[in-house]
Amino acid sequence: MRNSIILAALLFSINAFATTPQVLLKQYEVQAKQENPAFTGFSAERGAIFFRAERTHSDGKKVSCSTCHTSDPRNQGKTRANKVIEPLAPSVNPQRLTDAAKVEKWFGRNCRDVLERACTAQEKGDYIQYLVNLK
Ligand code: HEC
Repeated sequence: MRNSIILAALLFSINAFATTPQVLLKQYEVQAKQENPAFTGFSAERGAIFFRAERTHSDGKKVSCSTCHTSDPRNQGKTRANKVIEPLAPSVNPQRLTDAAKVEKWFGRNCRDVLERACTAQEKGDYIQYLVNLK
């Protein structure tokens, strides 16, 4: 009895953030409309450009999302400490974009790292649209 309550609580806490890329896109769409009333939809093309765009960080180094994730999200990437990062595209790594808290955590860290600001909902949605479209 006790164990089943613990198990139920555990399953609930695991599932609390379980999601799909399509649900994430819907949630970012709601936010994007709040940020910008002229929002007309997400664009995979813009997402691809965003992913590869290199900028000069205030520390003087050139950086982009591709610095760690390579220029193709279907590839394995590497952290600055040379640790393998599994591919981001759900077509080759189905675990991606299935945990809303994880997605938000890493957008938070990575956007600060690359852009030195938070990403907008438009940027996140464009990027997810790009990942989802990769076969
Ligand atoms: C300094 C290296 C680095 C840079 C630069 C970087 N990332 Fe990441 N990213 C990581 C690491 C490390 C993880 C988490 C490890 C893992 O999940 O395999 C991660 C995870 C993610 C995830 C989580 C996906 C999921 O569902 O698990 C997304 C989305 C992501 N990155 C997008 C981006 C975007 C967009 C940019 C550019 C703004 C970017 N990353 C730049 C290292 C980086």
